[in-house]
Amino acid sequence: MLNIVLFGKPGAGKGTQAEFLKSKYQLVHLSTGDLFRKNISEKTQLGLLAQSYMDKGDLVPDQVTIDMLEAAVKEHPQAKGFIFDGFPRTKAQAEALDAFLEKQIMMIKATIALEADDSLLVERLLERGKTSGRSDDQDVQKITNRFQEYDQKTAPVKKYYQSQKKFYSINGIGTIPEITQRLSAMIETL
Ligand code: AP5
Ligand code: MG
Repeated sequence: MLNIVLFGKPGAGKGTQAEFLKSKYQLVHLSTGDLFRKNISEKTQLGLLAQSYMDKGDLVPDQVTIDMLEAAVKEHPQAKGFIFDGFPRTKAQAEALDAFLEKQIMMIKATIALEADDSLLVERLLERGKTSGRSDDQDVQKITNRFQEYDQKTAPVKKYYQSQKKFYSINGIGTIPEITQRLSAMIETL
């Protein structure tokens, strides 16, 4: 199985690239942000809870997120592999993911980070905010808070995977096809 974590700051291109990789390698794409937004649009209890955090650009509490992700993995027993996008985002989530996958006799093959400068990421998010309807894309303060959450809570996940020798970085600046090409070249070496 090819299980990959796509890692990177808000706007780094995780969702965009996952769309290409999932067809190329026949993987199931699981984005915790997309799952939360689906719950919000369906007005579920989970959606109501998540919305209060997402609207501010704060992370949703770990256990809620972990439970949702595990349920989503279990919905795909025949999967050839998964692209985890936006998860894990804390060390506790990374540890929970490893423990969960081990129980399913699965493991993470690689965590690949898309790297780009904050100023470029802010530009991308504000541009998308004009049409996405995402409240967290429309306000520089909320975007800044998403970056702070990343620096404080998500950055340690890099060390977690580095210590397992599973962490790789890709230059996330360039055209979308260029970055898909870099990611594919990296995946071929795994
Ligand atoms: P989530 O939905 O995961 O958002 P995010 O990580 O903050 O960032 P994005 O999804 O906006 O970025 P992306 O890297 O996917 O980039 P994209 O491809 O879209 O999370 C939202 C919220 O949900 C969180 O703040 C939190 O509250 C909650 N949440 C989610 N997961 C959680 C977790 N595990 N734990 C706790 N809470 C969680 O690209 C961005 C834009 O740039 C697009 O418009 C795209 O078209 C454009 N673009 C992409 N690539 C390029 C390129 N090469 N050139 C030009 N434009 C590009
Ligand atoms: Mg995304």
